[in-house]
Amino acid sequence: MKSFLKAVGCVFCVVLFATISYGSTISGSVKGPDGAPFRGAFVQAQNTKSKITVSVLSDKDGHFRVEGLAAGDYQVQVKAAGFKGETHPATLTADQAATQDFALGKGAVRWADLSLYQGIKLLPDGPGKSDWQGHCFNCHGFQSRMASVVRDEDGWKDRVAYMRDTEHYFLTPGVTDEMAGRIASYINSAFGQDSTLAKSPADLPGYKDLVKTFGDDAMKIVFVEYDLPGPNRMPWNADPDKNGNIWMPYYGHANKIGRLDPKTGKVDEFPVPAEMTAGIHSAYPAADGSVWMGEQGTNRLGRWDPVSMKITEYQDAYIPGKEYTTAGGQKHTVRVDGNGYVWATGNPLSRYDPKEGKFYDYKDEVGAAYGITVDKNGNIWFCAQGSSSIGMGDKNTGKTKVWKVPTDRSFPRRLAIDQDGVVWFGEYSAGKIGRFDPKTETFKEYVLPGAGQTPYGIAIDKIGGVWFNSAETDVIEHLDPKTGEITQYPFDHAEITIREMNVDPEGRVWYTSPANNKVGYFYLAGRTELTGKMP
Ligand code: HEC
Repeated sequence: MKSFLKAVGCVFCVVLFATISYGSTISGSVKGPDGAPFRGAFVQAQNTKSKITVSVLSDKDGHFRVEGLAAGDYQVQVKAAGFKGETHPATLTADQAATQDFALGKGAVRWADLSLYQGIKLLPDGPGKSDWQGHCFNCHGFQSRMASVVRDEDGWKDRVAYMRDTEHYFLTPGVTDEMAGRIASYINSAFGQDSTLAKSPADLPGYKDLVKTFGDDAMKIVFVEYDLPGPNRMPWNADPDKNGNIWMPYYGHANKIGRLDPKTGKVDEFPVPAEMTAGIHSAYPAADGSVWMGEQGTNRLGRWDPVSMKITEYQDAYIPGKEYTTAGGQKHTVRVDGNGYVWATGNPLSRYDPKEGKFYDYKDEVGAAYGITVDKNGNIWFCAQGSSSIGMGDKNTGKTKVWKVPTDRSFPRRLAIDQDGVVWFGEYSAGKIGRFDPKTETFKEYVLPGAGQTPYGIAIDKIGGVWFNSAETDVIEHLDPKTGEITQYPFDHAEITIREMNVDPEGRVWYTSPANNKVGYFYLAGRTELTGKMP
């Protein structure tokens, strides 16, 4: 008995005192097919057990350094669009500095490597293209689910029907049977069995002008990414809680939320009771430990209880067949104000009183709203895309006030508030970043350089730097508020689909890439004062 207790005691010793050290590194060089140093290749080290992947870029001398790795087995992959990559295994002990060299071979750019912006420019015009463009790229692009799969026309028809069924609230009002047929034939002409499309988009004359280039500074971005427990979770965004966990709503019909422990890579999943496609758009950890969610497909709020770990749903207006419209309602992104009221954007903006169990809908005052955040006084700020406005919701009176953005029809989408209370927002359709100072009630706008700029997720780092992604060009960007200077960084996947960026207490900027089924954060190597890094 004594020895049994001793053994048990020892097991606890290990559990309690073993802390993971992230002190190992892999560095080395990348060469191109010509043997010269290769700049801008992604080197990605994935831990085979935790599936945590750290991705860095090779610099102008072809050098790279992957840091922040725990002891363990890794697969180290090098990749660059248009080249044949390489994967090497590696085994690291604690605090080891390993070296590895890579050589890229000759390869071809694939359609799935392109950004949405490049794809739409290069894919041929034809009947159905504009319907496809208008209805099929709100949630994912064409890269992973169309350009990477070969089907015949019936196969594509079947997949369009599947989308209209599972994502009915989004696609039924807009997509008629006739249009669905045109969309399926267009996808078939591009990616079907008998496609006559150029095998590589790089063979097309327009390709060269669409290639994106990045400065040497951009090679400093580091991505730390986690796999999800299975395919098609479509993690819509990543919200850190005060204990260091990351909460993710799974969009579409996955009907679950996930909780990631960033230290171990473990993800726990919790189902919502909804019997139909919930379209969970948001999972927001509130100060009291509960997690509130907004369901777009059902116009419900959900609340995950920290004690029972179960989700209860609260139904706002629901008219079957009218989902997603102002009459039928939809819940989008959720935030809890300083008095515990649960605000949800969507159509229309709404505020829920958990004590009374009542919804108040801002149909007339605001209408549809998109991004939402809480300021340091506990008041709510939101984007109202329909009227190209931003607005504020008072936690005490429940009253809203809106201000029109200088550029009309600019689609203000997501917003973030800096340390001085200044509101920053992306103007998706105008390719601008907007700044609103609540003290003076004045706006300033920054025009983003280059074509296809579509600012979406947005966050402020520890020293006030503004980070955002351009959705259609697969780029991460930084705006220096002091100089107005903008730096662009490559993302480690095509089809970025980042919809929110949220900062954790360490200053790390969290995102998800729903189409790639990934959650992660990024930082700049050597600049930990900005965005923190691995724990
Ligand atoms: C409202 C969001 C949304 C819109 C709009 C949307 N999709 Fe999807 N799509 C999803 C989600 C979520 C998945 C993953 C879930 C799944 O595969 O079951 C998916 C998966 C797919 C797949 C892969 C299915 C498979 O068999 O693995 C295809 C193909 C697809 N979509 C095509 C389309 C087309 C074509 C359109 C336009 C008619 C479209 N999608 C519009 C959300 C959307």
